[in-house]
Amino acid sequence: MRPAERVEMSSLNQSRPARHSCVVGLQWGDEGKGKIVDVLTADADVVVRYQGGANAGHTVQVEDQEYIFHLIPSGILKKDTACVIGNGVVIDPRALIAELDGLLEMGLDHEENILISDRAHVVLPYHSALDEAKESAGGDGKIGTTLRGIGPCYTDKASRVGIRMSEFVDPNGLRERLVHLGELKNRELEKLHGRDPIDPDVVFEEYSAYAERLRSRVCDATAFLHEQDARGAGILFEGAQGAMLDIDMGTYPYVTSSNTSFLGLGPGTGFSARKVGKVLGITKAYATRVGEGPFPSEMQEEAAASLREVGGEFGATTGRPRRCGWLDIVALRRAIQFGDVDAMVVTKLDVLDHLEEIKVAVSYKVDGAETDQYPASTECEVIPQYRSFPGWLESTTECRAFEDLPEKAREYLRFVADAAGCPIAIVSVGKERSQIVSLDPWLEPTPVEGD
Ligand code: GDP
Ligand code: IMO
Ligand code: MG
Repeated sequence: MRPAERVEMSSLNQSRPARHSCVVGLQWGDEGKGKIVDVLTADADVVVRYQGGANAGHTVQVEDQEYIFHLIPSGILKKDTACVIGNGVVIDPRALIAELDGLLEMGLDHEENILISDRAHVVLPYHSALDEAKESAGGDGKIGTTLRGIGPCYTDKASRVGIRMSEFVDPNGLRERLVHLGELKNRELEKLHGRDPIDPDVVFEEYSAYAERLRSRVCDATAFLHEQDARGAGILFEGAQGAMLDIDMGTYPYVTSSNTSFLGLGPGTGFSARKVGKVLGITKAYATRVGEGPFPSEMQEEAAASLREVGGEFGATTGRPRRCGWLDIVALRRAIQFGDVDAMVVTKLDVLDHLEEIKVAVSYKVDGAETDQYPASTECEVIPQYRSFPGWLESTTECRAFEDLPEKAREYLRFVADAAGCPIAIVSVGKERSQIVSLDPWLEPTPVEGD
């Protein structure tokens, strides 16, 4: 078999309209998507989540107030922005209502802005119990999931036994559907995992109240998006997780159960990805991963501990310490390529401010052979080849223009754009909304000879 040749990626596809855009994670999640979506919502009329579920934790910091969104799109803070939860999302009604109540407690009564697709699948206590049972079974099967029932719910969707929002909010059919699904799931819980069964009547009791509350928000979200498009509205799509957790393109089986990249947008909304003019891929200036699975550029624990401390690298959903590593250009190029990314947003540059040396993985040795392609197998030995950069050793947190950044930081960013073959549109230098450097024009990669 001939290895694929390296292809230089083109940058912005000028032919697509730029009114609608999409934000996706380019790594293993937690790249700072929430912050960037919040910032870009200023120019959007509609913000849409299209895959994943309450496994996501998207943080938005507004002055001293921190918001963490799991199911609600990160555009919710802007009044009058429609926030759509698309059909590709798996919705735990208990988690969604807890989130809505949390917003109410903070004085944000934006529930009317939320629209839930009638085709989205519902996460029930059976799914979370199965997720937990599978994860605690031990052995090689542990993924390190968020235990939010995501895999089991998508399994039911693919097996065509899941409950969708339209049925969930139908007062006539819910009890029967829960009894039927409960029978199937309890068999699995008891026989396969030796767990106690879950009483469908108890589930009905709790969940029918959730259905009552959510009913008015459930609609044909696909029709809504097309109607908004026809009216000239700007739609911002918000990916969850990151490219390397994509079920098809990620580090399978150590992935989540959806298409986390731009590839998930069409099926997760019923809105053609061809209508989306701009795909922004978010990457940290380094890398993190939560849960099990390969992470070639992972640091030794001592260095990781320092970065974790400075970067606050603890899960926004589970609180787990995140594994930390250097930026990985091999993984990044792949994510940009299959995700059709127009430009990158580099976040958390400030977290590197104190480092004397910054490393970047530029290629791999896979089972002894040099390559710049990410391997399919999670079993092979991957040794990253690093390039080293001197740190800038000064604060970037007050920088608001490219020229404000220290020269060494600018060199680092230029290298990232060149090596990834993709422009940089925004640099983030702190968690607060205002800590942003917008690059206009974008920092384009240096043209490759022959281009
Ligand atoms: P998401 O899942 O991609 O939305 O990212 P998370 O919210 O899980 O994790 C990103 C974390 O980094 C959050 O705590 C953010 O507040 C924080 N953050 C985002 N951008 C920056 C940045 O540029 N600098 C710093 N120091 N923190 C940031
Ligand atoms: P955001 O949107 C980081 C990881 C889990 C685990 C794997 C499968 O905040 O970037 P799952 O519960 O989805 O079945 O777990 O995926 N994972 C995330 N890691 N950020 C996320 O979301 C994640 N969502 C899931 O840690 O390794
Ligand atoms: Mg997160």
